[in-house]
Amino acid sequence: MCQSFSFFCHMGVAKQIRRATTPSTMEQAPTRPLTVLGIETSCDETAAAVLRLEASGPEILGEVIASQFDDHAAYGGVVPEIAARAHADACDGVVRETLKQAGVSLSEIDGFAATSGPGLIGGVMVGMMTAKALATATGKPFIGVNHLEGHALSPRLSETVSFPYLLLLVSGGHCQFIQVRGLGDYKRLGSTIDDAVGEAFDKTAKVLGLGFPGGPAVERCARTGDPKAIPLPRPLLDRPGLDMSFAGLKTAVLREAQSRELNTQSLADICASFQQAVCDVLVEKSRRAMAILRADIPSGQSPAFVIAGGVGANTALRSSLTALCEDEGFSFHAPPLKWCTDNGAMIAYAGALRLSQGDVSDLALSARPRWPLDEEAAATAPVFGGGKRGAKA
Ligand code: KG4
Ligand code: ZN
Repeated sequence: MCQSFSFFCHMGVAKQIRRATTPSTMEQAPTRPLTVLGIETSCDETAAAVLRLEASGPEILGEVIASQFDDHAAYGGVVPEIAARAHADACDGVVRETLKQAGVSLSEIDGFAATSGPGLIGGVMVGMMTAKALATATGKPFIGVNHLEGHALSPRLSETVSFPYLLLLVSGGHCQFIQVRGLGDYKRLGSTIDDAVGEAFDKTAKVLGLGFPGGPAVERCARTGDPKAIPLPRPLLDRPGLDMSFAGLKTAVLREAQSRELNTQSLADICASFQQAVCDVLVEKSRRAMAILRADIPSGQSPAFVIAGGVGANTALRSSLTALCEDEGFSFHAPPLKWCTDNGAMIAYAGALRLSQGDVSDLALSARPRWPLDEEAAATAPVFGGGKRGAKA
């Protein structure tokens, strides 16, 4: 196992074109308790969890997250080759430790789930190969999970949120509004047309020399800054619709940084102003998305708003969106911080739900660098063309 890995272990409490077998807003309870091992290796976290799914809901029995921050810090971002090698070094140990924490033997696992995309392909392959090998050795099913589906369902790990709900998915690779209508049934309402919002946080941190990962560093630095100090753009707010753009904001931060002396106060002011611009854009776009979702909520059900993905850990964003929800009559839901960023629990959960519906994968399933949640929208109305950007669609 890589020496430079830092381990955060939690115990007890805690991506192919495919529709669920029965996409439906009706909840289907599993007919018997299912115990699933989930593996996540799509970016810079090697993570695993053992989850038990019962009619009453999911319970995490054991969970390990090994972060590669130290391996990538010198580069200011995730280096795919380094990530793949680090996953290969860590994966077996993380799985072993997770099973030990859970107090569960391999023979007690009903299915092995792994992120199968979207993500950095080398890492995705490591997790999939591990899950496939365990499935083969034990004669149990393998379930290839869409990483984005894991994030989309993650708030349900800790609380009941009924379908349909409005999801704002904000991570290092994605920024989308999705109407979550049921397991495997997703409608894209809007998306970034260039950079993901987490990417904008990471690049801002890099430009300001704040280190990696950027999001938490920018948030920390912003605490003592004035959010009105630096005028920054609110891209696409002047246009109707739900699409977003963060590339221009990132460039504006670079310009502002180059035009002044950087000291503790100016850094804090830039970070606070950047974070405020992100919050303003996401709050206004969320308000518009809520108007769309409200029309589809069954009568008698109160509308729910969910934020998920790494940027969902941002406290300023959470409180801005909580206030918006109060204004708009939506309930606000966000996973606990450890399940906002990449984790094995969300993969085990999505895998267990699919297993409970008999929706398992072939061992020949390939890793997918791109795997949009709403395949139809991605095919008929792509926000990105092909190439590097396509992975974010
Ligand atoms: O979901 P995630 O762990 O991985 C992806 O699927 O991309 O998200 C990682 C992203 C990074 O860009 C990271 O800087 C950002 O989430 N992030 C944050 C915070 N914590 C993590 N951004 C803003 N504020 C935070 N507190
Ligand atoms: Zn993620």
